[in-house]
Amino acid sequence: MSRERAKLVVGNWKMHGRIGENATLLIEVAAGASALQKGVSVGVCVPCPYLAQSQALLSGSVVRWGIQDVSAHTGGAFTGEVAAEMAADFGVTYAIVGHSERRAYHRESPELVASKAQRAIEAGLTPIVCVGETLEEREAGTTERIIGTQLEAVLQALTEEQAAGIVVAYEPVWAIGTGKTARPGQAQDVHAFLRHKLLEKGATVANVPLLYGGSVKPENAEELFGQKDIDGGLIGGASLKSKDFLAICRAAQTVTH
Ligand code: PGA
Repeated sequence: MSRERAKLVVGNWKMHGRIGENATLLIEVAAGASALQKGVSVGVCVPCPYLAQSQALLSGSVVRWGIQDVSAHTGGAFTGEVAAEMAADFGVTYAIVGHSERRAYHRESPELVASKAQRAIEAGLTPIVCVGETLEEREAGTTERIIGTQLEAVLQALTEEQAAGIVVAYEPVWAIGTGKTARPGQAQDVHAFLRHKLLEKGATVANVPLLYGGSVKPENAEELFGQKDIDGGLIGGASLKSKDFLAICRAAQTVTH
């Protein structure tokens, strides 16, 4: 397996931000990211109303921007939904799909998440497919079954070529926003399992970036990113402060060969 995979660090702002403070954050992240070496890519997934602002402030920088969810539909009478094609109108690169907050609070099934990934790909976006188990599921020993089912639904809906273009994020639900991070070895074990699942879909698919998410901070990023199958991170809380987010990006750089 190649150890040459580039690192990828993506911020997930969730439902945070206001137009004034966003401008400062986006400008600082763009400036800091420009000093990173090659081999580390940086993105920020912002709330929909700020896609235009992100496009205006990040165009021409090395930072890509993304959306936190897309509709499973291409258009029509779906009040409140946003189609992937609409996000594409704002130069979006990434579309998070299947975040655990959506799976839990909006009852998104593996099949629905798979449709969302398809719509994102059709619109030219890169889906960041999130998978993860709850604490109860981990304690019951069902982690691999749960995340295997979540990933499998997406892989089944895609061709090998499409699957080779996705990003997968392992985010244990018990580690999101809780300050509890998976131990690096614990995360690596799950990433190795996911890598194996991806390989079953095809050799090219096995090389997709596999991100870890869940309380990643400047203090723990380097050790996590140093694990063999961890290609970067999906960063929630720490992506709201440019200093922390950029420190995490630099940690990705130090473990890139
Ligand atoms: P956190 O969130 O870094 O705040 O734990 C990660 C995520 O939910 O993507």
